[in-house]
Amino acid sequence: MKEPEWIEKTLAALRADDLERALRTSPGVGGVIEHGGRRILNFASNDYLDLARHPEVRAAAQQALQEYGAGAGASRLVTGNLPLHEELEAALAQHKRRPTSLLFGSGYLANAGIVTACVGRGDTVFADRLVHASLIDAILLSRATLRRFRHNDAAHLRECLSKHRGGGRLLVVTESVFSMDGDLAPLREIVACAQEKQAMMLIDEAHASGVFGPGGAGRVVEENLQDEIHFCMGTLSKAYGSYGGFVACSPKMRKFLINRARSLIYTTALPPPVVGAVLGALRVLQSDPERGARLLHRAEQFRDRLRGVGLNVLNSASQIIPILVGENRKALDLAERLRRDDIVAVAIRPPTVPAGTARIRFSLTAAHDESDLDRAFEHLVRASRELGLL
Ligand SMILES: Cc1ncc(COP(=O)(O)O)c(C=O)c1O
Repeated sequence: MKEPEWIEKTLAALRADDLERALRTSPGVGGVIEHGGRRILNFASNDYLDLARHPEVRAAAQQALQEYGAGAGASRLVTGNLPLHEELEAALAQHKRRPTSLLFGSGYLANAGIVTACVGRGDTVFADRLVHASLIDAILLSRATLRRFRHNDAAHLRECLSKHRGGGRLLVVTESVFSMDGDLAPLREIVACAQEKQAMMLIDEAHASGVFGPGGAGRVVEENLQDEIHFCMGTLSKAYGSYGGFVACSPKMRKFLINRARSLIYTTALPPPVVGAVLGALRVLQSDPERGARLLHRAEQFRDRLRGVGLNVLNSASQIIPILVGENRKALDLAERLRRDDIVAVAIRPPTVPAGTARIRFSLTAAHDESDLDRAFEHLVRASRELGLL
């Protein structure tokens, strides 16, 4: 079989720009991985609350596996809708202080389903410039017009909305905690702008859910905005330690999505063990509601130390702490130096972040104790000095 030449050309161009990606095998899951007598500090895990390996979460997954088996066997609308899915939806709705919620196969699929159900050709989506790729893909798939407003700039959103001419539905989308910068959206202002124009709102709480707000309910609940936002989505693959996506919404919106969200209709329901695991995670969170708050407190201390030595952590105000490096090559070098010391923090490069803003991204988790953070700090400072970043 002859492979087209452009494939190799594409890969060569990526290599030339230090942008070629490759899969690496991780020896385990979670923020701290004990492997071959080494304590590997994994700052590239989204298992923020250290629940993926929690005994109660594992037991709940096992119980669901025993009771129902490994797979749901069909889509929700066919015969894949198990009591377990409904139990989790009720629990997530309560957690997010909304009347109902709806599960999706992943956060990516939740965004795809919500956006394409709500808007199409002739409609307009106003999205923060830094929203996650899953939202951008969802908007492209919907064929609606995409208007990007400056990052976290509600005044610019208002300007874009007020310049909007012509009919069509309007949808405003943003993240409450940004995945690459770890900073927080001005939710109140964004909601006010959207309401002035009667635009619908989708807030992506992938990185806030489980961590921010009372009992980990997220930033939307923390700001008491849950009744103002049409779709508050989240993923079950980060703080809740498992897999899947969901949206908290009104019963009418839920009914609408069940009828219109193609990424819910045309795909198999989540496997029972995955659903069971999230139910277990929510129980852990209920018995220890300060888990997220403790993580945020430790992240704040770590960030202050980094700022104190002159590292640029941008506007991080969460468990996600970027360290701005600039050049792709330097970001890769820094990540490599840290890796040699069993500290894993991934270099994030374009197109995930804008050109010239390559960075190392630290995601702190509940698995990292004080001494882990001391060790990470010392190695990071030393490596940054060696590379001339300090
Ligand atoms: C902001 C944001 N939204 C959505 C997603 C997609 O979630 P999932 O991994 O469950 O598909 C992610 C990350 O993966 C994310 O960071």
